[in-house]
Amino acid sequence: MSNVTRLTVRTAGGSYPITVGRGMLGAVGTLFSLDRRTLVVTDEGVPRAYAEAVASAAAKPLVVTVPTGEGSKSFAVLEMLCRKILDAGFTRRDCVVAVGGGVVGDLAGFAASVYMRGIDFYNVPTTLLSQVDSSIGGKVAVNLDGIKNCVGAFYPPRAVLIDPDVLSTLPRRQISAGLCEALKMAATSDAALFSLFEEGNAEERLEEVIVAALNIKKSVVEEDEREAGLRRVLNFGHTVGHGIETLAGFDENEATDARENGLYHGECVALGMLPMCSDAVRARLLPILRALALPTSTALPKDKILAALVHDKKAEATGIGTVFVDKIGSFRFETLTVSEIGARMDTAFPQK
Ligand SMILES: NC(=O)c1ccc[n+]([C@@H]2O[C@H](COP(=O)([O-])OP(=O)(O)OC[C@H]3O[C@@H](n4cnc5c(N)ncnc54)[C@H](O)[C@@H]3O)[C@@H](O)[C@H]2O)c1
Repeated sequence: MSNVTRLTVRTAGGSYPITVGRGMLGAVGTLFSLDRRTLVVTDEGVPRAYAEAVASAAAKPLVVTVPTGEGSKSFAVLEMLCRKILDAGFTRRDCVVAVGGGVVGDLAGFAASVYMRGIDFYNVPTTLLSQVDSSIGGKVAVNLDGIKNCVGAFYPPRAVLIDPDVLSTLPRRQISAGLCEALKMAATSDAALFSLFEEGNAEERLEEVIVAALNIKKSVVEEDEREAGLRRVLNFGHTVGHGIETLAGFDENEATDARENGLYHGECVALGMLPMCSDAVRARLLPILRALALPTSTALPKDKILAALVHDKKAEATGIGTVFVDKIGSFRFETLTVSEIGARMDTAFPQK
């Protein structure tokens, strides 16, 4: 085992450790308390060996594999998980481990938060997005009636294990999409991490990128666990990005085998950052996005994107909260009207 980094995230309800290190999956039994009934939740796209590594370290494991994709963040799958562990005799003293990306983490974490009013939850994130972002911060949820994360909770894990070696099986496009979330955090909060991207070293120095992004997210969520203010900085790129994702986001249920349909979340964020920064910042972002094969322009009509990003009619009147980056490593919150956002999009995506 090479370098191991340990971080501690402090929350209102206590603190939890995050361990980052290559090969750490093999040490899961020493990091999590698995000497009890343990539900291991994974999905069909996650290589089986990762969930098995956790199961083999548990005294009484029960592995449940859910279908791949956003569709598993549903009441039906949540109910199925709760029934399985009820039938298996799980008590309040037993636990749940997520082994997968953000979908599995959000679903399994929410199941842990509601079963018997809350049992211990551990997370082993296996996508880059979940390693740098969703596994830290304690948000867990399922979707309802097409509304993402409509029903959920703040439910911090007991511990998180991040093994960058599991990313060796992750498709290249997913790596780029995950890197974009780290780039987003670098743009607002860490000029040194941004330079690492500019120098073209992010992929080579993945472990360093993961730890730097975790440190940014840790300091943000420690200051604002419940998203009353500062935590909104993590939404840089997400206003326009969300509009694009609503129109053209990747939908697992509609995807072909080639998985080419639609844009991944990180790809939408890449596009969404471009209107929300100064010309100077955009000039620095563009070569990084191109080098990571992330999109830099969209053929979607501006009006449709604007209509999709306004989820709430009232927002049209009161304005939409956005994050703007004038200078790398800093940010400001700005409330913009829909037409002001449109004007920014004209600058970022000039008509050919
Ligand atoms: N809770 C939060 O704070 C938070 C933050 C950001 C995003 N999210 C949520 O995260 C979800 C997206 O997460 P994601 O991007 O990780 O997607 P995902 O969980 O759907 O995983 C993407 C794909 O990669 C596969 N996969 C996972 N690990 C793999 C590995 N090591 N090797 C090969 N394939 C692997 C999965 O089977 C899946 O097909 C969304 O539901 C989003 O709402 C939550």
